[in-house]
Amino acid sequence: MPKKNTVLVTAATGNVGPHAVAQLLQAGADVRALVLKDDPNIGRLPAGVELFEGDLADPDSLDAALDGVDGVFLMWPFFTTSVETAPAVVKKIEARARRAVLVSSIGVHIGLERVDNNCHAYLEELLEATALEWTFLRTTGFQANALGFAQQIKDGGVVHFPYGAATRTSVHEADLAAVGVAALTEDGHAHQKYLVTGPEAQSQEEQVHIIGEVLGRELGWQDVEHDAARAAMVATGWPPSYADGALDYFAALTKEPELGSTVVQDVTGRPARTFRSWAEEHVEAFR
Ligand SMILES: NC(=O)c1ccc[n+]([C@@H]2O[C@H](COP(=O)([O-])OP(=O)(O)OC[C@H]3O[C@@H](n4cnc5c(N)ncnc54)[C@H](OP(=O)(O)O)[C@@H]3O)[C@@H](O)[C@H]2O)c1
Repeated sequence: MPKKNTVLVTAATGNVGPHAVAQLLQAGADVRALVLKDDPNIGRLPAGVELFEGDLADPDSLDAALDGVDGVFLMWPFFTTSVETAPAVVKKIEARARRAVLVSSIGVHIGLERVDNNCHAYLEELLEATALEWTFLRTTGFQANALGFAQQIKDGGVVHFPYGAATRTSVHEADLAAVGVAALTEDGHAHQKYLVTGPEAQSQEEQVHIIGEVLGRELGWQDVEHDAARAAMVATGWPPSYADGALDYFAALTKEPELGSTVVQDVTGRPARTFRSWAEEHVEAFR
């Protein structure tokens, strides 16, 4: 019997990982999930995946998970994990795998993320220097980022956040995963830098309005001023340069909407999911 395509998914229990794992299993791959010791979110993973304990901050801990893989769905949780170990991790992937998909960012696409400011550009640079068949998913913000509004919606229904008029083309995490799964299971995606977006542009305030419609409640929006928002972000652990980058980008998106693409439809053959459909799936998180 021919060997099955074996794929390792990192950040497997985050927002994208469980979709990637489920879709790879559906595509007939042998799927491995990299999980931290005592990961509290293991329940998000579907049956049939093989779990490997490992930490991106400790490259040698990835050896068992990487031995025998054909592809890696690479996500780097850059708020919690320094990119110091990224060169060693990429080297280990290159030594074993043929393909690697990196969840990168639209920030790299539009030149907003400098190599010294964010790991996406740095990881792209490391992968580009390898012999791997890499594919970059330069994604917009996730529709799941709206979960960050959930507590305020539950508490009173007015969302306090900067730049309500910032207009984004947020992508459904399952669609982002589907583009990556295609790149790991089909030919024709090597060395592509895909701009992955949702199907429509919506302001953050409009997204909250849609959540309200799905909930059957009127919700409000209150802009938080730039400086106050920056101070709050830094207080919760954002590196100041990331906070500045995000807020400056939001400010720019109040004047010009975020870029959109047809990559989800082109690569998967299915239309990209709307924010309304995401809100319907996740309505319980806002009650
Ligand atoms: N959110 C956005 O709008 C956005 C936009 C552009 C790009 N991205 C990119 O999308 C990627 C995926 O995002 P996500 O929200 O699905 O996941 P994430 O928040 O980046 O990562 C969370 C996952 O990583 C695991 N993890 C944390 N530290 C780890 C380490 N040192 N070694 C191995 N695993 C570790 C967590 O395990 P536990 O469950 O145990 O904590 C969890 O499974 C991000 O890495 C980011 O680069 C996101």
